[in-house]
Amino acid sequence: MAKEKVLVIGASGQIGVELTQALRKIYGNANVVASDLREQNELLKGTGPYVSLDVMNKEMLHVQVIRQNITQIYLLAAILSATGEKNPHLAWHLNMQGLLNVLDIAREEKLQKVYWPSSIAVFGPTSPRKLCPQRTIIEPSTVYGISKYAGEFWCNYFYGRYGVDVRSIRYPGLISYKSSPGGGTTDYAVEIFTEAIENGSYTCFLREDTFLPMMYMPDAIRATIELMEAPASKISVRTSYNVSGLSFSPREISEEIKKHIPSFSTVYAPDYRQAIADSWPQSIDDSVARQDWGWQHEYDLPRMTAEMLSNLGKTDSLLV
Ligand code: NAD
Ligand code: SER
Repeated sequence: MAKEKVLVIGASGQIGVELTQALRKIYGNANVVASDLREQNELLKGTGPYVSLDVMNKEMLHVQVIRQNITQIYLLAAILSATGEKNPHLAWHLNMQGLLNVLDIAREEKLQKVYWPSSIAVFGPTSPRKLCPQRTIIEPSTVYGISKYAGEFWCNYFYGRYGVDVRSIRYPGLISYKSSPGGGTTDYAVEIFTEAIENGSYTCFLREDTFLPMMYMPDAIRATIELMEAPASKISVRTSYNVSGLSFSPREISEEIKKHIPSFSTVYAPDYRQAIADSWPQSIDDSVARQDWGWQHEYDLPRMTAEMLSNLGKTDSLLV
């Protein structure tokens, strides 16, 4: 097998840190180059190569790909849903141009593979609310969702027209403790843990009955790697795959945290993010991913909650 050299763009972000760690285990520390606009995350320091890189600077990106003999790119740099609504033009510009820069270079340099994540945000108010299927009505109402939907079809186009082996997952909201989330609507489900531990209470920016598709980060990293390692013959979707993990509301996750911290309380003060959440499905049908490359999630809400609290510094002695 030819030696792989991987470039992770946006490696200091919520997914980037853990994905870089996982890729370094597979390919070796020296063969996974982390890059970001931001400085290197503390958890990655000393574990492998890092370059400061702006994905919008196509020439610099191209130089790095050639200089480092890159064979695969994981593109994670993006502006997420909530931040995107504050600056729609910037979100569109970064989310689209960053992807096009990577796809062009992948085509020119004949890279082995590209990974680019989409999101459940591609779905809109007219999509089915429950068990939203792989193929359905897709009319996103956020600039983030519009950029993800357009991006999915750019991936499909580069695969069909130029043979670029680009693969994608529509991640649900991701919950993790290693690196902070970067401005999404599902960020409440991370904040609630840190606030529970630090303050014993949380003011949630969504209504208590707002169900959204969610996933614990270890499942998301495993899904990404399993998709990227699957034989090309197993990949029938070249836009982006639905994958499902959990579906819960702020009230349900609060109740689960209370099993560990009985005094924990949540108040609800919905803001502009409520409208974004209301436009998304509550749960996702991922049967195509299951059939094509054997996807199966592992974490349920109780297990994820226990791990999050434990990893953020709580001990089992608080269990009631
Ligand atoms: P994040 O905001 O935590 O990380 C993005 C990283 O990209 C940041 O470290 C940022 O500094 C970097 N970046 C921004 N502009 C850049 C530029 N011009 N050049 C290089 N780096 C730049 O985001 P994340 O949560 O890790 O998300 C990664 C990808 O996964 C995004 O495409 C996002 O849409 C997608 N996604 C995330 C979630 C989630 O819940 N986290 C859910 C669905 C999809
Ligand atoms: N977690 C992301 C967001 O809320 C979903 O793509 O923006």
